[in-house]
Amino acid sequence: MADASPPPAMPAMAGAAVAAADPGIAAIETNKLTKIFPGFWRSQYVTALADLDLTVKRGEIFGLLGPNGSGKTTTIKLLLGLINPTSGSARVLGKPSGDQVSRRNIGYLPEETYLYRFLNARQTLDFYARLFNMNRAQRARAVEFYLDFVGLDPAVRRRRIGTYSKGQARRVGLAQALLNDPELVILDEPTSGLDPLGTLEMKNLIKELKRAGKTVLLSSHNLSDVEDVCDRICILYRGRIEVEGTIDSLLEVKDVFKVEARNVPVETQGRVVEMLRSAGAEEIVPGVQRSRLEDLFKRMVLEKRAAERAGGGAGGGR
Ligand SMILES: Nc1ncnc2c1ncn2[C@@H]1O[C@H](COP(=O)(O)OP(=O)(O)OP(=O)(O)O)[C@@H](O)[C@H]1O
Ligand SMILES: [Mg+2]
Repeated sequence: MADASPPPAMPAMAGAAVAAADPGIAAIETNKLTKIFPGFWRSQYVTALADLDLTVKRGEIFGLLGPNGSGKTTTIKLLLGLINPTSGSARVLGKPSGDQVSRRNIGYLPEETYLYRFLNARQTLDFYARLFNMNRAQRARAVEFYLDFVGLDPAVRRRRIGTYSKGQARRVGLAQALLNDPELVILDEPTSGLDPLGTLEMKNLIKELKRAGKTVLLSSHNLSDVEDVCDRICILYRGRIEVEGTIDSLLEVKDVFKVEARNVPVETQGRVVEMLRSAGAEEIVPGVQRSRLEDLFKRMVLEKRAAERAGGGAGGGR
């Protein structure tokens, strides 16, 4: 996927020429949004979402968190108008959820990637680009632009999608979600199936979408991903918001002071610890920095890719 460099201008899409919503209004606003799935018996009814009051501001990255079955996908489907609420309401880009015009301004990556197995990546995107009424030249430009943007290895673009790895298919799904240059991008578990490097690239890409002025709503189980990219989050539990706020306000630990330094002589380390102790500091944890397995993995893959590129070998199969 693309690096964290300034975002390229997204190709202007002829078919997606939908008036941008008023920047003063929230991208998403729900009012006591509730979804109860009926069962044969009343005892089998499932309250997937209860009285959800949620506001996502324009231009922010908002994370929807929660354990399995807490209502994340249900929220997303309600916002897209794919299912109807039992009660309450939702407005998306200033219009009631499901509105046909605002839908054209929404890009959606579903939890599972649903793509035609017998088409290749280019044919798949070309198919969707036709649905947006793009002409041939626009389609050709947009397809290559977004496949580059999501970092799909050029070597696999002509291969049918049925043969793709999970991560490769996920990238095509994301390219499809972005094809109409939407204002609001809704990503259900965007990093599912991606390796650590793919995950990092996906995070960079989400940040690029923000820099390009888009609003992103994402759901994820991967908390460190969410922490790295989101401005604000909420945590759902059994369909209710239990925690909501900015990442900074929720995670700041005010009473812990942290310093990191390289090449500190052992004797100085001892003096620093002693100084802290005599100043009344508690729970002092001196230690040696250990790099993370994730860093080791990423370093190895990046080195291999660079070597392959230098030697003109096969791509990394992204
Ligand atoms: N069509 C349906 N019929 C009945 N119950 C449903 C239906 N869809 C979802 N549910 C239930 O609603 C609850 C919320 O499901 P949802 O898919 O929104 O969870 P989630 O937070 O996305 O979970 P996950 O992290 O596993 O993706 C679950 O208890 C689920 O079983
Ligand atoms: Mg889900």
